[in-house]
Amino acid sequence: MEAAKLNLIAGIEAECGGACACATCHVYVADAWTDKAGKPSEMEEDMLDFAFDVRETSRLSCQIKLTDELDGLVVTVPERQF
Ligand code: FES
Repeated sequence: MEAAKLNLIAGIEAECGGACACATCHVYVADAWTDKAGKPSEMEEDMLDFAFDVRETSRLSCQIKLTDELDGLVVTVPERQF
C-alpha cells in the first residue's frame, strides 16, 4: 500500500493509513504471486468482508510486507473501493 501511494498508483485509497481498518487498499494478487505474498491473517480476512468484489486472491495491500522475494509483485485493483 505504501509503495502504491508513494508512486501515485490509482485505485488505492488507504483511508486508514495501513491500520487494517478500512479495506480501501484492496488488491488482487496475480496468481503467480499468491504463494509468495502469503495468506491474509484472520484480522485481514475480517476486514476483507467490507471490500468490493472479494476474490480468492484478494489481499489488503497494507498487510502485504514487501521483501526482496516480492520484487516484481503484480497486483491489480478492483473496479472500486468501498
Ligand atoms: S489502508 Fe486501510 S485496510 Fe489497508
